[in-house]
Amino acid sequence: MTALLEIQGLYLGMQSFDGEAHVLNGIDLTINCGEVWGVVGETGCGKSLTGLSVSRLVPTPPARYRGGRILFEGQDVLALPEGELRKLRGRRIGMIFQDPTTNLNPSFRIGDQLVDVALAAARHSADILGPKPTRAAARDLAARMLDKVGIPNAASRLDDYPHQFSGGMRQRVLIAMALIGRPSLLIADEPTTALDVSVQAQVLALLKGMVAETGMAVMLITHNLGVVAQSCTHVAVMYAGNIVESGRVAQVIRRPTHPYTKALLAAIPTRQVMRGALQGLAGSVPDLLSPPPGCRFAPRCAHARAECAVLPEAVAVEDGHRVACVLAHA
Ligand SMILES: Nc1ncnc2c1ncn2[C@@H]1O[C@H](COP(=O)(O)OP(=O)(O)OP(=O)(O)O)[C@@H](O)[C@H]1O
Ligand SMILES: [Mg+2]
Repeated sequence: MTALLEIQGLYLGMQSFDGEAHVLNGIDLTINCGEVWGVVGETGCGKSLTGLSVSRLVPTPPARYRGGRILFEGQDVLALPEGELRKLRGRRIGMIFQDPTTNLNPSFRIGDQLVDVALAAARHSADILGPKPTRAAARDLAARMLDKVGIPNAASRLDDYPHQFSGGMRQRVLIAMALIGRPSLLIADEPTTALDVSVQAQVLALLKGMVAETGMAVMLITHNLGVVAQSCTHVAVMYAGNIVESGRVAQVIRRPTHPYTKALLAAIPTRQVMRGALQGLAGSVPDLLSPPPGCRFAPRCAHARAECAVLPEAVAVEDGHRVACVLAHA
């Protein structure tokens, strides 16, 4: 079986006046249909850049791909012409971006924005609105999607403009917009962080329902390990541009092996803690302009030793549970 998404040895540099920061340092990640991957790690560790890379949305320059491949449904994303990429974005790959203010056009009605996305996707897939898509059918679908994400009186809100919606409601519209084209992969970057707990639970339940119904896969970027435990099948833990540990959620929670994963699990999983220092973990994320050679976590690690000066290869500690640390090599 070919994987839905395969990221192989992805390196990304980010240019600035001071030089080039090594922001992605050999990312390997495979996602199959129906899997929900949580991507976690401290601020600045490369979660968003990994998600944006999948549909080649990282601006180049200042960024530069320095190596590796991204295969989505067998297509080599980094080599695709722009026209082909546009067919992926918003259709095969749904995106919810971290910064919601950049997403809805303030001058168009909510319903029209959803209808346009649905019609564009329907031109490529009869699953969405049947073989002869109409604007009326797209409008019906838009109302149903808004209802699904918890917008009250959804049908009557289609003609509203974004400024008539609260921030949390706009975020729900963006979620509806990412899902309306029935993507095979949804990349959701902190999709529920701005929402209150009950709406957050509703949105996560909606995503789970879509996964069960359509076999969609999800890359869920989040600071909240509670969300990962509840909503994800798999997890990738990132540190300073590397995936240091990955596997099924149950495996990683039961048997965390990388010292960084252990520190994350020991910390209270709140945004405040994740934004600041981690409990029991001295130091901070390294400067990616001149990162330490080898394991980038070594300067903060109580178990660091001479071998850590070479980047440890990820090895399986149990089936599908991979860890990039000398402790796992023993
Ligand atoms: N457009 C850009 N220009 C310059 N540097 C960037 C750009 N985007 C990201 N970076 C840098 O790349 C690194 C990784 O950023 P990224 O946004 O992927 O982190 P993140 O893990 O998503 O963090 P957060 O949890 O804060 O969202 C950071 O050091 C960031 O400052
Ligand atoms: Mg981010």
